[in-house]
Amino acid sequence: MSDEGKGRLVVVSNRIPLSKPPAGGLVVALDDALRGSGGLWVGAAEEVVETPRDHLVEHPADGYTKLSFDLTAADRNEYYLGYSNGVLWPLCHRRSDLIDFRPEYREGYMRVNRRIAGLLKDLLRPDDRLWIHDYHFLPLAHCLRELGVDVTMGFFLHIPFPTHTDLEALSQPEAFLQWMAAHDLVGLQSQSDVASFLAAIRRAPRGELLPDGMVSYADRRFRIASFPIGIAPQEFAEASVAIDGSDLIGPDRRGAKLMIGVDRLDYSKGIPHRLRGFESYLDTRGPDMPRATLLQIAPPSRSEILAYKEIRAELEQIAGAVNGKHAELDWTPIRYLHRNIPREVLAPLFRAADAAMVTPLADGMNLVAKEYIAAQDPDNPGVLILSRFAGAAEQLKSSVMVNPYDRSQMAEAIGRALTMSREERRARHVEARANVFEHDIAEWSANFLRALGDVRGPGLSVDAG
Ligand code: ADP
Ligand code: F6P
Repeated sequence: MSDEGKGRLVVVSNRIPLSKPPAGGLVVALDDALRGSGGLWVGAAEEVVETPRDHLVEHPADGYTKLSFDLTAADRNEYYLGYSNGVLWPLCHRRSDLIDFRPEYREGYMRVNRRIAGLLKDLLRPDDRLWIHDYHFLPLAHCLRELGVDVTMGFFLHIPFPTHTDLEALSQPEAFLQWMAAHDLVGLQSQSDVASFLAAIRRAPRGELLPDGMVSYADRRFRIASFPIGIAPQEFAEASVAIDGSDLIGPDRRGAKLMIGVDRLDYSKGIPHRLRGFESYLDTRGPDMPRATLLQIAPPSRSEILAYKEIRAELEQIAGAVNGKHAELDWTPIRYLHRNIPREVLAPLFRAADAAMVTPLADGMNLVAKEYIAAQDPDNPGVLILSRFAGAAEQLKSSVMVNPYDRSQMAEAIGRALTMSREERRARHVEARANVFEHDIAEWSANFLRALGDVRGPGLSVDAG
């Protein structure tokens, strides 16, 4: 990718795996993508500093170059926790009620985006392609254009695009579209996100849908399309058989089927709703329905933010109450782990589970859903219970689809999954597996980069590797 005379791929995202292994959809996906294609990846340093350096710092990496920018404690508080995760995250996940507007958050967000634009201006060469990721950097391309940078710029939003009504909850909803319009290509996860984007453009006084499928906003023309993100399924499948997941789980689940949930501890993931649905299953379970243990792995995430502290307390309260009501001497119905688990352990656990519950209230894609499918034994697969509000629902249509707000529907889905015939499990799995293996992470990045090349005309060389 850094060949002479050939544009480099420069990727920017807030999170970059410097010392810790990847956890979270974006880093898992980009690490997989860049290992295949090479290039440069720019992201935030792990420790805050008192005074940010005026240059990017290079880190050892395997297959691609990693560069970090510095953040101060104020930057982290205002740009990352405050505006990105206290305003934009709830806005995009249909939780505008949780938005915490403070002027210093927006100022900090713009300050960091402008600073990074300055650092990138020094790094970029005219034939490079810049690929910006996620809601931390909505204004970055706009800031770069203001500095006169004219490279091809693509943007991919990993989380849902806000509905028109949600956008109105922003003090300056038009800024969102103006920032998007600074790119040559905007990629979203799902068709439903594209529909939300186009609805916002249609309603904006300065927005227009052009006959050639392009979009214009104010003085800019750009393209928008959905690029559903995938995983590296082969690697995950291999990891799932390296050890036996059943051996990892202790004995206190005698006779019980195993269900698994794996999510960052985030209110968008619907974990309390999931536990309530599971509780309903246990409450209403007849004598011919199996016992079940739900292994819920939920590592800490953004724990300085009040809404995240509250969801943790809620989860602990529900898990305690359900176990208090239903546990027996040889069986604990909910096993809850509040920590990171290496992928080499997660994959065998997925394979050992009779069903997975992936039941977010809103989610851009949800990679866990795809990882669970990749980890199954095709001959005797488990069942994916999937929220219709996950982006993955547009692809994994053979899952047992649920509305996570409906407790009795969740309970019924659990019963169905745990008693499903092997024949039906196989038929559902074959369809989902084909989707996960055909539309993998390499295809995702290749499709995006091809579209990015096309949008600026044939002069640009694009090679996703
Ligand atoms: P998000 O990006 O919102 O966190 P995704 O489901 O798209 O959600 O991606 C989460 C990624 O993080 C998956 O690759 C998953 O395997 C990984 N992950 C989630 N929970 C854990 C955990 N407890 N330990 C390690 N990895 C995890
Ligand atoms: O995939 C969505 C996302 O918000 C990524 O942008 C982010 O890296 C990941 O979830 C985990 O969140 P965080 O980086 O805040 O820990």
